[in-house]
Amino acid sequence: MTDARLILGIETSCDETAAAVLRADKKILANVVFSQLEEHRPYAGVVPEIAARAHMEHLERVVSAALLEAGIGFADLSAIAVTAGPGLIGGVIVGVMAAQAYASVHRLPVLPVNHLEGHALAVRLTEEVEFPFLLVLVSGGHCQILAVEGVGRYVRLGGTRDDALGEAFDKTAKMMGLGFPGGPALERAARTGNSRRFSFPRPMLRQEGCDFSFSGLKTAVRLQLEELAAAGKVREQDKADIAASFQQAVVEVLQDRITHALAMFKVRYPAVERLPLVLSGGVAANQAIRGALEELAARQEAWFIAPPMALCTDNGAMIAWAGMERLLMGWRHEGAVEPRARWPLE
Ligand code: KG4
Ligand code: ZN
Repeated sequence: MTDARLILGIETSCDETAAAVLRADKKILANVVFSQLEEHRPYAGVVPEIAARAHMEHLERVVSAALLEAGIGFADLSAIAVTAGPGLIGGVIVGVMAAQAYASVHRLPVLPVNHLEGHALAVRLTEEVEFPFLLVLVSGGHCQILAVEGVGRYVRLGGTRDDALGEAFDKTAKMMGLGFPGGPALERAARTGNSRRFSFPRPMLRQEGCDFSFSGLKTAVRLQLEELAAAGKVREQDKADIAASFQQAVVEVLQDRITHALAMFKVRYPAVERLPLVLSGGVAANQAIRGALEELAARQEAWFIAPPMALCTDNGAMIAWAGMERLLMGWRHEGAVEPRARWPLE
């Protein structure tokens, strides 16, 4: 008999107001995401106060839409999973308070979920991936490489020393006036650019371990823009060439860092065959990065997996699944849920 238990997952830690209904057999009955892009566009970045207010305004409607789409009511649920951090604290509080209110009215248990654990485990919703696997998590707020040993068992192999990768894309795009969100805009501009015109730095290349640093790269782009501006006008072709050269630097840094990470992983877990290399987070949408990592994995006899984009970017299904993995292990949470701005996985 299939396990028909249902979990409602709520996510409000950044600029997506999201709710999903997931069944224990991994069937996603609803996955509703309300993106606050329009609210933040005038500022070309996510404004925490605006995000919190928008979550408050939209969450109830998003939850109702998810339940309606799933064709269920609160009484059919086994639990409510909610992101309890890390993230923008105002938004996290809105989600946690709502989850606790629903739970107390409908007498349901609440499962606090670490947002990063949501990203880490999401791949298991669509692929039969066993532990341990290597996770490259690159989004607007996160940039780290982890060995995922099991539910609740994470080993951080490396991470950024300054900007997250998505943040570097966003800030660079903003400098060039490419619009918000910057990542997709920069990738679009790069398509018609010459990636060899500018030789930007490749921070951390060939250094020990698998840490990242992107602030120097960002600065190099700024200096280049200033130089072009001083010499006259910055043309569209100049912007395209800068975008392509920036993206090429990022690709080479990622290839180098992930090669190191794969080696570190193999030392730690020598018995793992066809090492799963999972790419997640919003930056996983980037085709140049995806292609480069796919090739790298093939050369290293690793198994490259990028979950479907709807599960890579912030969503409620990944939160419901992280809660479900714990529920299936018999885990329970007692007492009130504490919203946290910081909450390292390991
Ligand atoms: O996972 P996500 O939706 O939200 C969090 O940050 O948690 O990721 C959004 C980030 C933004 O920084 C966005 O610019 C970046 O992912 N991104 C991209 C692309 N699409 C989204 N970066 C590079 N290339 C893209 N095509
Ligand atoms: Zn995220």
